[in-house]
Amino acid sequence: MSTDPALSGPLPDRFRALWDEIAPIGRDATTGGYLRYAFTEPEVALRGWFRGQAERRDMPVTDDGNGNLFARWGPADAGDAVLTGSHFDSVPHGGAYDGPLGIVSAFLAVDELRAAGVTPLRPLVVAAFAEEEGARFGVPCLGSRLLTGAMDPQRAAGLRDADGVSFAEALGDRPAGARPDLLAGFSSFVELHVEQGRALVDRDAPVGVATAIWPHGRWRLDFHGEGNHAGTTLMADRRDPMLTCAFTVLAANKEARTRGAHATVGRVRVTPNATNAIPTTVTGWLDARAADQETLAGLVEAVRAKAGERARRDGTRVTCTEESVTPLVAFDDGLGARLATLLDAPVLPTGAGHDAGVLAGRLPTAMLFVRNPTGVSHSPAESAADDDCAAGVTALARVLTELTSR
Ligand code: GLV
Ligand code: MN
Ligand code: MN
Repeated sequence: MSTDPALSGPLPDRFRALWDEIAPIGRDATTGGYLRYAFTEPEVALRGWFRGQAERRDMPVTDDGNGNLFARWGPADAGDAVLTGSHFDSVPHGGAYDGPLGIVSAFLAVDELRAAGVTPLRPLVVAAFAEEEGARFGVPCLGSRLLTGAMDPQRAAGLRDADGVSFAEALGDRPAGARPDLLAGFSSFVELHVEQGRALVDRDAPVGVATAIWPHGRWRLDFHGEGNHAGTTLMADRRDPMLTCAFTVLAANKEARTRGAHATVGRVRVTPNATNAIPTTVTGWLDARAADQETLAGLVEAVRAKAGERARRDGTRVTCTEESVTPLVAFDDGLGARLATLLDAPVLPTGAGHDAGVLAGRLPTAMLFVRNPTGVSHSPAESAADDDCAAGVTALARVLTELTSR
């Protein structure tokens, strides 16, 4: 029997004990949601917690120069490591599980392997990726994109948050960019994540295996009009960019519905943002996703065209700028099928983006999902039962045992 309390007792209790260590970090008392933006104080505290957990397990930590952390179990010079982990950062007022569940579960899976006396033939590496949500600097999966070379470090360095702080300043240095040397040391990546829908609830299963991630992206729509007085400007004389924006939001919804796709405008910026002034500019960010590339491209083109037509009628002007696009990710068939058989788990596609989607372009990658009873995510209502989280750890431990033992 272990003398470390973290290593003894039922797994759901051990999960809860570790989970409670991070639960208060970055939680907003009013909404109950999390404000854990990359490199802000709560996220830095979580990075400190990560280093502490690694140290407790004698796992040396390296930073790849892009803000991604890697804690390693196994010989420093051995290759073909199995990578697992996720991210700490959240969307504004996001849920507790999106991201951190994959990191907490990874450390607990290491404990499971050790408690079972497994001596891995390959190293096992736990990762915490930076800025997965893109909530601070606008580009999702920024850390994994930099690591894999999918993002130009110059462009990343210059991305700015809402207060004008650049990514390079927040990072404390310029991003290192692609690290083929590090990637070459990994043989596979498995990311465990809370499910962001109700597929597992419907299938009555605590854990599932992902098959694919829908192609998705973000487009910035800048609507320009003429600022003027809300009380004195005749309705016929207005050039109101809010109208063009509002119409475009409705058009995006309609175009997505008719295509079986998803379109969301979840963030807008209004200038000057005064109750009694017609805005000069409105910026809206379109998040669009579809099952295939062609549908996604058709959707965005249709929204762009509708916005342009409406701008002509409103006497406004609109520009559309692509900020990030992630193509269809089909996870490694062989690996996914192997894991689904090993775990006797259902397989499901997802409309959510993940670092696993970026890593999948470089190494065999798979994802495990843990049941979310509400199906709600990117909201304080996101949840998962401790028993299901423990089932996720057990599944991850089985997968890591399998992958590190051959
Ligand atoms: C990340 O969670 C995304 O799908 O936007
Ligand atoms: Mn998310
Ligand atoms: Mn996530």
